[in-house]
Amino acid sequence: MAVMTVFYLVLAIISGRWQRFVPVTFMVTFVGLYLDATLRGKFVVWAQLLDTLGLRGDERILDLGCGRGAVLLMAAERLTTGRAVGVDLWQRTDQPGNCEAATRRNAVAEGVPDRVELHTGDMTALPFADNSFDVVLSSFAIHNIRGSAGRQKAITEAVRVLRPGGRLMITDVRATAQYEAQLASMGMNDVIRRRLGWQFWRAGASAATPIVTATKPDQKGRRPDRD
Ligand SMILES: C[S@@+](CC[C@H](N)C(=O)[O-])C[C@H]1O[C@@H](n2cnc3c(N)ncnc32)[C@H](O)[C@@H]1O
Repeated sequence: MAVMTVFYLVLAIISGRWQRFVPVTFMVTFVGLYLDATLRGKFVVWAQLLDTLGLRGDERILDLGCGRGAVLLMAAERLTTGRAVGVDLWQRTDQPGNCEAATRRNAVAEGVPDRVELHTGDMTALPFADNSFDVVLSSFAIHNIRGSAGRQKAITEAVRVLRPGGRLMITDVRATAQYEAQLASMGMNDVIRRRLGWQFWRAGASAATPIVTATKPDQKGRRPDRD
């Protein structure tokens, strides 16, 4: 896109016609918004989302499809004795340069390697025990699973590994209505799906980017903050 923008800009300058600058202006705006979203915006938005969790620092947090660690490492920065656990198949078609070694290097660069655990695994069959995480996160990853049956399995697995009272937070570019309906049908509490609003560009996705949040009921099916 950046190369095309430069190409059209050069054409516009050579032609000397102002009309040729109209598409160039749109392209420059789009490239600027995209760069802002991927280099800064995603981090700004997720920092705000993580802050809403009010973490103590001792939690076990799981990031489904952590990729090179954009969200995983921000979660790790909010921990002291807790652990941020990332699981991924490291598919390069989904994220360029995707591999466990790159994520580990990023963890070192961010100064949190001691608080990060990385696992190669499929989020439709998680290699973790039931009720073993306080928080399960996922950022733009579940939609990469082909077919709704696979995405359904990923949601079932996310709920399985979440401890009673644990919280789930998912942003994705599509299928979030499906996640919302499934979580409600599984008896999760406080299932909320809302759009990131004007911040959608900053989250690095399309205008439709929603976030889905939910809480796993405690052992007796109650909301954890109530009697
Ligand atoms: C678009 S990237 C997002 C990475 C990261 N969460 C972020 O926000 O930067 C999607 C990630 O999901 C991973 N992924 C796709 N299908 C998966 C599956 N079935 N199990 C585990 N990871 C998967 C890909 O390997 C990739 O790292």
